[in-house]
Amino acid sequence: MTTQDSFVQIREVGLRDGLQMVRTILTSAQKLDWCRCMVDAGVTDIEVTSFVPPKVVPQFADAADVASGALKIDGLHAAALVPNLKGAQRAFEVGLGKVHFVLSASNEHNLKNVRRSTAESVEDFARIVAARDESDAPGVRGIELGAGIATAFGCTIAGKVDERMVLDLVDTLLEAGADEITIADTVGYANPGQVRALMRRVCAMAGSVPVACHFHDTRGLGLANVVAALDAGVRRFDASLGGLGGCPFAPNATGNINTEDTVFLLESEGMHTGVEIGRLLEIREKIAAWLPGEPFTGAIARAGLPITFEPAQAVAA
Ligand code: COA
Ligand code: ZN
Repeated sequence: MTTQDSFVQIREVGLRDGLQMVRTILTSAQKLDWCRCMVDAGVTDIEVTSFVPPKVVPQFADAADVASGALKIDGLHAAALVPNLKGAQRAFEVGLGKVHFVLSASNEHNLKNVRRSTAESVEDFARIVAARDESDAPGVRGIELGAGIATAFGCTIAGKVDERMVLDLVDTLLEAGADEITIADTVGYANPGQVRALMRRVCAMAGSVPVACHFHDTRGLGLANVVAALDAGVRRFDASLGGLGGCPFAPNATGNINTEDTVFLLESEGMHTGVEIGRLLEIREKIAAWLPGEPFTGAIARAGLPITFEPAQAVAA
């Protein structure tokens, strides 16, 4: 096994996917404190905010402040979500090293989420790539542009999402210049068989372009889906501290897969994450106190680590 095979990148999305659904608006200082603590715990990839209009998600009215504050945190690779060109331009202005664009495989979901068809969002992505590549502003041409496909395993509005359609989108986004592909089960419909089959094909198509998965644990299959995606070759996973998160168009959706439990699973499988679970549990306590009444999930937080637990060792190259 090489380092590449046994290292898994955990990307914290609690500050974005988690916070977009909660009632309490955190201050920018609290959000940056959360980021700092996560980096200390070994989570160095964080989606720190979302560049959406403040009237759509008031929680992210401070997106530019949080993103520029995040850039000053040593060791943090900060990324932000953007739903359109305007969001990408705002992220470029701050100077983030990584921007995640999202569109939905389900046209119906895309219309509800970003008020345009999936085909129009694909065009938006091409415009974002062009805006980056043609920019004269310092550093902008070096920004990594990830493309995420939401509702890739099914949709609460449209129902079944055809695998062929997802693969065609992957192809189009790679062709357009995506530096990473994220496949998302936005509404918690995926099962391991479906994940294994789709992710094998996506990894084969992507070649050297990294592939990530974004799972929600709505129906209890989140971690089983992680194992299936690992089998297929995926080595990047979104997760959220305490399992915060949801989707405005997925009634009763629970949050993302829980960061603490995901790290526990991966380390138990011999996959090195560089993350200290004990530290995550401490951070979780602090964030839960900031967000009264919000549901925090997680088996490790409830039951603790087994006394037999041993973190995976980093494998030398
Ligand atoms: N950030 C800030 N302002 C933005 C913006 C962005 N990313 N995108 C558009 N705007 C502004 C426009 O400048 C315009 O302002 P004006 O009225 O002062 O001229 C206004 O918002 C409307 O612009 P328009 O392009 O017509 O957007 P829209 O109303 O069709 O909304 C989205 C499109 C994508 C901005 C909106 O649907 C959205 O934010 N969706 C994301 C929802 C989300 O966060 N989902 C969960 C994560 S996947
Ligand atoms: Zn999500």
